[in-house]
Amino acid sequence: MKNDIKISPSILSADFSKLGEEIKLLEKSGADMIHVDVMDGHFVPNLTFGPPVIKKIRKCTNLIFDVHLMISPVEKYIKDYAEAGADIITVHPETTDNLARTIEVIKSCSKKVGVSLNPKTPTNVIENLMDKIDLILIMSVNPGFAGQKFMPEVLEKVKFLRSKIDNEKLNIDIEIDGGIDFETAPLAIEAGANILVSGTTIFKGGNNVSENIKNLRKQ
Ligand code: DX5
Ligand code: ZN
Repeated sequence: MKNDIKISPSILSADFSKLGEEIKLLEKSGADMIHVDVMDGHFVPNLTFGPPVIKKIRKCTNLIFDVHLMISPVEKYIKDYAEAGADIITVHPETTDNLARTIEVIKSCSKKVGVSLNPKTPTNVIENLMDKIDLILIMSVNPGFAGQKFMPEVLEKVKFLRSKIDNEKLNIDIEIDGGIDFETAPLAIEAGANILVSGTTIFKGGNNVSENIKNLRKQ
């Protein structure tokens, strides 16, 4: 697993006035997927964009759209995000009154299912649903803003889930999101994450976008 690390740059830190070009640059620079942060100003304090923007940027790349929905209530909007071009649809358990049903809605749209755990959300919320989930997104900051500090305490959850997934031979990706930089990426990989989300470091970190992606992937 360790030698197959995928990088999912968050376009939250891109220049929104030229989002299409920024996405093409990510593709050219070796990104494996595009992390699309949807915020509603209600479940999280910040507000970003919705299906019409996603539909437009969908035309700029063939990369997987990894859509992180931070909206509540989420279920009634899933079809709109599926139709706009999401490939993976990730929801937070707190944004639905029935996570199992919400997962079924995502599946009925033929999309991959992601479930995201906030730093304070325990893993037992998803433990009986693991056979229905394709991706677990571990938040390593409280969702809402780019550029926050990594919370190392979430690595325990990554380690626990990695051993459960490996022992039970489950086909689930572990993605980590928030404060991933050149120091924290190796810690997340070591704990068992195989997809790294990063916004600030990729767009504003040390070098150019391509070097930043390459350096995050290093273990
Ligand atoms: C936070 C978002 C993240 C964020 C990552 O709520 O889900 O995807 O944009 O940004 P950095 O890499 O700056 O922490
Ligand atoms: Zn995110």
